[in-house]
Amino acid sequence: MKKIYINTSKPYEILLDFGSLPKIAETIKEKIGGKKIVIVSDSKVFKLYGDIVVEALSKSGYKVFNFVFNSGEENKTMSTYQKIVNFLSEHQLSREDILLSLGGGVVGDVSGFAAATYKRGINWVQVPTSLIAMVDSSIGGKVAVNLPQGKNLLGDFYQPSLVFIDYNVLATLPTKEFRNGMGEVIKYSLLDENLNNRLKSMPAIDKIIERCIAIKKYLVEKDEFDKKERRVLNLGHTIGHSIESASNYKIPHGYAVALGLYLISKISLDMGIMPEEYFIDLTTTLKKYGFSLEIPYNSATLMKYITSDKKAGTKGLNLILPKTHSKVMLAFKTFDNFKVMLENALLNQSETMEHLSKKPINNTCNNTNNTSNKNTYYQSCSDLWEAFHES
Ligand code: GLY
Repeated sequence: MKKIYINTSKPYEILLDFGSLPKIAETIKEKIGGKKIVIVSDSKVFKLYGDIVVEALSKSGYKVFNFVFNSGEENKTMSTYQKIVNFLSEHQLSREDILLSLGGGVVGDVSGFAAATYKRGINWVQVPTSLIAMVDSSIGGKVAVNLPQGKNLLGDFYQPSLVFIDYNVLATLPTKEFRNGMGEVIKYSLLDENLNNRLKSMPAIDKIIERCIAIKKYLVEKDEFDKKERRVLNLGHTIGHSIESASNYKIPHGYAVALGLYLISKISLDMGIMPEEYFIDLTTTLKKYGFSLEIPYNSATLMKYITSDKKAGTKGLNLILPKTHSKVMLAFKTFDNFKVMLENALLNQSETMEHLSKKPINNTCNNTNNTSNKNTYYQSCSDLWEAFHES
C-alpha cells in the first residue's frame, strides 16, 4: 500500500492501493480507533460499495450506521447537512467515533462539513470513489455546502484523519464522471509540465492520481488556509463556477472547470501572457479527453455569478492567469475590464482560431519583470514544482 503523508496543522495519511477496500477496517482500527462509524454515502455509490465497507467494519466490531442520500450537486445543501448532523446526534456519536464519507466530491464536502462542526469536530475518514474526489476534493480539508446565492458559500477548512483510496472503484465510474475528474487533472497539468507531458499518452491512472496529489500536497502544506500559494489551485474556477451555477449544476464541476481553463487561457493569450503554443496545447489536451469547448452562456450571464463569487472583491477580481506549464501570473482586474476580456474570449471557436492566426504573439513568457500594471505580479511556480518532476 502506497502512503502519502500530508503535513498540515492536523497531519494525516493518504493510503493508495488496488483492491484495498475489504481491508479498510483494520486500517481504521489501527490509525483511529473508536467504536461507532456513520457511513455517509450517496445512493449510487452505496449500492456499489456499501456492502463491502459495512461488512468489513462490522466484522471488526464497529457499530455501523448508514446515512444515504440522493447523489448530485443539487443535494449539497443545508438541508442534507442538517439531516446528517441530526443522524450523528440520534446515534449518539462521540468525538472519538468516526464519520466515514464514501463517495465523490458532493458526499465528501457536505459530510466533511458535518464532521467539522458536529461537537466541534469528530474523526473523519474520506473514501473517495470518483476521480475528481481522488485528485482534488478529498485532500486539503475544504468542506462546504452550497447556498441559494452560490457555490460553497458556507464551509470550513477541516482536515480528515485518513484518506483511503482503492483505485479499483474507478472501474465502475461512468465515462461522464471520469471526464469530470479529467477537468481537474488538466488543471493540474497546466501547473506541471511533467503531468502535461504524461497526458499526451494514455497514462496509467494511478500514476496520474499520485502526481496530482503530490502537487496538491505541496501547495496545501505551504498554504493550508488558501491565502497565497494554494490559490493557484483555483485556476479556471472563477469562470468555471459561474458556468456551473448558470447551468443550475447541470454542467458538472469538472466540465465547467475545463471550460473555465479554456476561457482564462484565451484571456491570458489575448493579454500576451500565455504563448500561442501553450494555448493550442491546452485546447488539444481538452479535446483529446473529450471536452467540447462550446460555452453555452454569454458574458452578461457569467458576470452575474462572477461578481458574487466568494473570491471576488467589491470592485474586481484577482485572476490566476496561466503562462506556461508551471508558471502562473496573478493580476487584479476590475469587473468592467474583466467583462470586456470575457466577451473577447467568448468569440466562437472558428472566430477564435481565425483571430489567433492573424494575431502577432507577444511572447512575454520568459520576461518575469515585464509588469506594466503595478497591481500585477508574477509568481514563478517552477521552483514549487521542481521537487516533483523526478518523482
Ligand atoms: N480545490 C481547490 C483547493 O482545494 O484548494
